[in-house]
Amino acid sequence: MRSAGWPNRDWPNDERQVNEQHLEPLIRHPEGRALRAEVDLGRIGRNLERIRAAAGGREVWGVVKANAYGHGAVPVSRALAAAGAHGLAVSSLEEGLELRRGGITAPVLVLGGLRPEALPAASSEGLSIAVVGPEHLAEYARILPDHPVQLHLKLDTGMGRFGLLPSELGDCLVALRLLAPWIKGVMGHFATADDPDQGFALRQRRVFEGCIAQLADAGIQPSQRHHGNSDACLRNLLDQDTHLRPGLALFGLTTLPEGRQLGLEPALALVAEVARVKTVPAGTTVGYGRTFVAPQPMQIATLACGYADGYRRDLGNRGVVGFAGQTFPVVGRVSMDYLTVALPLGAQVAPGDPMTLFSADPTAPHSIERLSQVLATIPYELTCALHRRISRRYFP
Ligand SMILES: Cc1ncc(COP(=O)(O)O)c(C=O)c1O
Repeated sequence: MRSAGWPNRDWPNDERQVNEQHLEPLIRHPEGRALRAEVDLGRIGRNLERIRAAAGGREVWGVVKANAYGHGAVPVSRALAAAGAHGLAVSSLEEGLELRRGGITAPVLVLGGLRPEALPAASSEGLSIAVVGPEHLAEYARILPDHPVQLHLKLDTGMGRFGLLPSELGDCLVALRLLAPWIKGVMGHFATADDPDQGFALRQRRVFEGCIAQLADAGIQPSQRHHGNSDACLRNLLDQDTHLRPGLALFGLTTLPEGRQLGLEPALALVAEVARVKTVPAGTTVGYGRTFVAPQPMQIATLACGYADGYRRDLGNRGVVGFAGQTFPVVGRVSMDYLTVALPLGAQVAPGDPMTLFSADPTAPHSIERLSQVLATIPYELTCALHRRISRRYFP
């Protein structure tokens, strides 16, 4: 029986190997499903430049976890490295390996920590690792001389998730001194950088600086320090940090007015071709549960995109799509692979016509930001959910 939680030393080896499956490539065909995410890599590069310039030219760890927030980890990482990112940050060993197998040679930092047993794999792939707790420090010190890995010491300055608590730091200093030759950076993470009330964020900063001073007193002086996610960069909560760690803003998405003022450009549009269009009389019901009843004769276009692709089911009867400069409502329930759009009788629409489900214009009613407001969620959730079965088309 597998027990819940991490770390878990009781997994049989064959069960761990099952994890390899998700690295298998998907089968694609040029004439296959007419659904694509169009990703503008030039915009991602320009967003990086804007964020860096606004932050006094500090170096950037570009956060590309979760398949670069759904945009495609390898192409985005390549673009970020070409645009001057210092390195890329991912959440897991697997995500780091994906970048290396994709030919990314820039520094890669695994934010989610690693079991000591995984250090040799990280070492041979040149991955850097966040140390996320006090549990494995002695084992790390035993393994690292043979399998060197650069470490970033994560401090829990108030996020309450990963990281050494300030109260734990004193007891760990002896073990950390042994790790000092490998400790390249010290890092934290904000819980409320988007909050107009900066009280808690400033407290986190003070805790961070206090821990850094304590480390320095013990002779541990990492050359890198980074606490700032996108919103901290946009709100200038950076203090003495040498590096930034933005994710969302790189993709031109932001919930802050400061982000738009900086000229961040959304990089992703989700486009589906009309698979079928039909004219229906008044009273026709559409989709599971018959939640939409045509109030008058109209056209119903079916698109091959559903909740399995990451288009949220609760956008049924609430979302809109863009077509020929206008927007039209998503009607009926969104199903696993399809959704339906209502158009007036006169609209010129035919199978193969492209409709925009997520617009890269931040002011459009079907922009990722606006749709996430409709759903009372955050843009991250919409883009991260974009399934790998959606083909990605990249523009330089
Ligand atoms: C540890 C860490 N750093 C940085 C980021 C980037 O955050 P954001 O996308 O808000 O810039 C994340 C994202 O969740 C994170 O978990």
